[in-house]
Amino acid sequence: MRFDVLTLFPELFHSYLQQSLLKLAIEKTLVDVRLWNIRDWATDKHKSVDDTPYGGGPGMLIACPPVYSCVEAVQADGNEPGQLVMLTPQGRKLDQSLVRELSTYSRLLLLCGRYEGFDERINLGLKPLEVSAGDFICNGGEVPAMMIIDTVIRLVPGVLGDETSSKYDSFGESGLLEYPQYTRPREFRGLSVPDVLLSGNHEVIAEWRRQQSLERTRRKRGDLMK
Ligand SMILES: C[S@@+](CC[C@H](N)C(=O)[O-])C[C@H]1O[C@@H](n2cnc3c(N)ncnc32)[C@H](O)[C@@H]1O
Repeated sequence: MRFDVLTLFPELFHSYLQQSLLKLAIEKTLVDVRLWNIRDWATDKHKSVDDTPYGGGPGMLIACPPVYSCVEAVQADGNEPGQLVMLTPQGRKLDQSLVRELSTYSRLLLLCGRYEGFDERINLGLKPLEVSAGDFICNGGEVPAMMIIDTVIRLVPGVLGDETSSKYDSFGESGLLEYPQYTRPREFRGLSVPDVLLSGNHEVIAEWRRQQSLERTRRKRGDLMK
């Protein structure tokens, strides 16, 4: 799966791309992440990409010309164009079902905003899929873009060591929160591992986990029970 990140701050991704699971996925050529600096498509001598909003107001907006040129050039780089995704707080909120949808594309272009956001004609003309990290305002689209890469690669076959792990994660196949998990030591500061997990009876353990998932989903995220 290929991700093209269109950003004014590509260097923010350098250390991120070196983290374990993603680094390994890139090394195994399961995932390809390419970074593009929108500023490279600015045409004036100051390499400017932003301008003041018509009608007044605070801050600067990312202008159409460098973004259109950058998107067109990146789309042309490769055998087939990808799905353009604009990171914006006004988009569809990222959740596991959207992550699943995004993972069905073989190529995503992640367009990251900065400052006060984009000239509206970027939206009108390029018709991106608008995706939000949540109901809050980040300084830029880079961290939300990393969230998309981080979540989507977990569904790319071969990326996780154990393919079943995404199935049992919270919001996985059952749509429930994951059951409680424990590792060594068996006793820690008066807290012990539930006896059932030490029983060696896989059927009983599976049923206990199912009940725990249901109970904690009801308690913590009643909205998911619907
Ligand atoms: C400071 S924000 C601009 C917010 C814009 N003025 C608004 O109210 O919709 C700058 C950029 O950060 C990114 N951004 C901020 N919050 C985001 C969120 N919750 N999800 C996705 N991207 C976000 C977007 O790319 C946005 O263009």
